[in-house]
Amino acid sequence: MPPVVEIRNMAGSVGQEILIQGWVYNIRASGKILFPLFRDGTGIIQGVVVKSAVAPEIFERARILTQESSVRVTGKVRADHRAPGGFELDVSGLEIVQLVSAEHPYPITPKEHGVEFLMDHRHLWLRSARQRSILGVRHEIIKACRDFFDDRGFTLVDTPIFTPAACEGTTTLFEVSYFDDKAYLTQSGQLYNEATAAAVGKTYCFGPTFRAEKSKTRRHLTEFWMIEPEVAFARLDDVSELAEELVAFVVQRVLAKRRPELQALERNIVNLEKCALPFPRLSYDDAVEILRTKGSGIQWGGDFGAADETLLSEGYDRPVLVHRYPSQVKAFYMASDPARPDVALCVDVLAPEGYGEIIGGGERLADYDVLLRRIDEQRLPREAFDWYLDLRRFGSVPHAGFGMGIERVVAWICGLEHVRETIPFPRMLSRLKP
Ligand code: 4AD
Ligand code: MG
Repeated sequence: MPPVVEIRNMAGSVGQEILIQGWVYNIRASGKILFPLFRDGTGIIQGVVVKSAVAPEIFERARILTQESSVRVTGKVRADHRAPGGFELDVSGLEIVQLVSAEHPYPITPKEHGVEFLMDHRHLWLRSARQRSILGVRHEIIKACRDFFDDRGFTLVDTPIFTPAACEGTTTLFEVSYFDDKAYLTQSGQLYNEATAAAVGKTYCFGPTFRAEKSKTRRHLTEFWMIEPEVAFARLDDVSELAEELVAFVVQRVLAKRRPELQALERNIVNLEKCALPFPRLSYDDAVEILRTKGSGIQWGGDFGAADETLLSEGYDRPVLVHRYPSQVKAFYMASDPARPDVALCVDVLAPEGYGEIIGGGERLADYDVLLRRIDEQRLPREAFDWYLDLRRFGSVPHAGFGMGIERVVAWICGLEHVRETIPFPRMLSRLKP
């Protein structure tokens, strides 16, 4: 048996007899020569099956191949700069592992399909070259985030998914029954990160988070993945720098390692290359002024909508950090600016090209009495937060952190219209299947 070689590694096997294991991507025939395209999850290679050069049963097997049938193919690798991927396989042997029936052909053909149809077949759609490119970039972004924090001495601490209380507002909580009680799916690991930051200094969590968002926008999922660092003794400026360094690092990493994927997605790489440090900073106050000159109806005190974020990012070729939003639009745990008690010591990072908020964070309330008052004002159940208040009783320190939504970053870096393609199996207001 010749050795199994991944299609991405063909360069090392030119002139040799090898075996590839994969699926039929497409098939083209030209008289007595067949040109099946094979894919194996790492790339695509064109096979060449010449009737006069193979045993009759091999040619017959190749002739009846259908899209997405699974195969094991032997042949000799030949470099051909005209071929997709740069190589061709002169097929000498072919084993069909499972033949897709011609009566029930693979539902996704090379022609155009509607989005709902593709989403219904997401489990199969993932096999397309475009979706594989997105999965590759997503993987690289996640790995880059972890490397970034690991190399800076952060400890990864996993936070729970079943939680007793809200972190980001009670209107977007998913309630689940929990034996004789009820629980909520986590909206953010932050409150737990604050506890572990006091244990290890610098921590981060990375996991799924849930928001019962009734919004049908191109930026909202009900289940998304968030990477959240939290740092003891850090202030707003410290986490603002950490956030911009993280974003620049991730973009650089993807540019360095995933060019082919970005090219396959037809991403304008020049725009990503502009993403150099430092990123511009803008106060909420100034942002409101800018928005009003651009025709937005925003009043001081209101939160930015998606359209406002797009208008704001238009002025910059790289992400922009917007800081000090009014406390009234932000979560209960946000520290207020001592110089301006009506604004929070918070920062949002807005991606360019209209992708909107990718990061939200800031400094946390460290004072026991102020925090207790906030919990009461926002009518949050005190009992659920007694452990959180403990953190302000036993060695409270200033601390800060943020959360970055992975899918929004994937959408921006890949240049996608909608977050539904950024996660293998998206969960949205009207989608729970497959
Ligand atoms: O701004 P958010 O709500 O902040 C928090 O959850 C903080 N507790 C994080 C922290 O400080 N540790 O969410 C953070 C990020 C947003 O900037 C966005 O990227 C993403 O999470 N996000 C969503 N992504 C997809 N779908 C949704 N429904 C999202 N909601 C937030
Ligand atoms: Mg936010």
